Amino acid sequence: MKKEDVLKVNLDKAIEKDKILSYQEKVSEIDKGIKDKSLAGNDFLGWSDYPLTYNKKEAKQIIKDAKRVRKEVEVLVVCGIGGSYLGARAAIEALKGLKPSDGPEIIFFGNTFSPNYTNQIIEYLKTKTFAINVISKSGTTTETSIAFRLVKDLLEKKVGKEKARELIFATTDKEKGALKTLASKEGYQTYVLPDDVGGRYSVFTAVGLFPMAVAGIDIEDFLKGAKDSMTRYSNPDLKENECYQYAVTRDYMYHNGKSVEMFVTYELQYTQIGEWLKQLFGESEGKGKKALLPTSATFSTDLHSLGQFIQDGSPILFETILYVNNPKLNTKVPHDEQDLDGLNYLEDKELSYVNRKAYEGTLEAHVSGGVPCITIEMDKLDSYTLGYLFYFFMRAVALSGYLLEVNPFDQPGVEIYKKNMFHLLGKKGY
Ligand code: PA5
Repeated sequence: MKKEDVLKVNLDKAIEKDKILSYQEKVSEIDKGIKDKSLAGNDFLGWSDYPLTYNKKEAKQIIKDAKRVRKEVEVLVVCGIGGSYLGARAAIEALKGLKPSDGPEIIFFGNTFSPNYTNQIIEYLKTKTFAINVISKSGTTTETSIAFRLVKDLLEKKVGKEKARELIFATTDKEKGALKTLASKEGYQTYVLPDDVGGRYSVFTAVGLFPMAVAGIDIEDFLKGAKDSMTRYSNPDLKENECYQYAVTRDYMYHNGKSVEMFVTYELQYTQIGEWLKQLFGESEGKGKKALLPTSATFSTDLHSLGQFIQDGSPILFETILYVNNPKLNTKVPHDEQDLDGLNYLEDKELSYVNRKAYEGTLEAHVSGGVPCITIEMDKLDSYTLGYLFYFFMRAVALSGYLLEVNPFDQPGVEIYKKNMFHLLGKKGY
């Protein structure tokens, strides 16, 4: 890949160039509609220039508060669900790994009704010093509110109401909602989730930034990556814009027999990027009985479970592979005198080398099995590159959603189960 490229998108194993270019007219029209905010959902386009327009003062405050939290506690409990946690979790795991050795542990809570997990977390927190970041745009999400009630109560019992106030950070709407009311009444530090940014597009706001900063991630670099990505993918010319080429390819796949997009990584600590992508694409596009089903897998792990289906089962899917050439850490295969496992042929080889060969071999196998494969390659994954990558996908789903003729920024379908659940739980008004 060229040195100046942050991401290299390779579509050769998925689609021919002329098929992409045939979309030019539609793409130019949609791109114009996104830029002059004239399409359905235009009041939720705040994310599109957010890396440029973000509140610099709030970002400084976040960095300052995060430094204090890093010094004062062992754990940050993040209470949030869906768009109010997936981005932060994906970023923290991708950049700090699954066993980070510096800074507070970050625990994601309020994303489930699981009685077992909830109970275990509360018991665990009894033995730790902790701070809380409660994140909810509406301020009324049931999973998040129950979890927050529990941890707030525990914290107040442990350190007293006064000190607890200094350790609770609320990310919510700037003026309305139950959480905003509570935060103002109690005097918590609050950060804003802007009106025109939906949950799944909020990773560049305080929703993503505060937990990331507490985890020790350079959030200014992350935003810089997003800003450069925004500039890079602002040209609607399909010959130039790889982000739009990718979006068009997805649309082409959908209209040509594929119903599933599988996001693939070759690194366990990127698994949560797949979770973030599933929400971004699923919630943005799954409307009007249309859209690709987004799913995700981590190879080589899942080759030992899903590999058979991908190679040989119903030909319903294509892959979008995120591949990072240089891991931050590496390990060599050791020598063994007896070599009973026959592994000495790999002696002194780094695991990144073995992983690369697994990737190359799998790519060839899946393509020969009739699975179109898109690859997005990066030389390394740092905070800058991750900001660049996240923005790439947000821009892509905006275009592909409009190509599909849905509003990529609403989620009316999510409300239906909630209404039934509230009715069954006996909530007033349901
Ligand atoms: O993307 C979305 O809109 C949802 O996933 C929400 O982020 C999620 O339901 C949490 O909502 P809230 O931030 O209002 O608690």
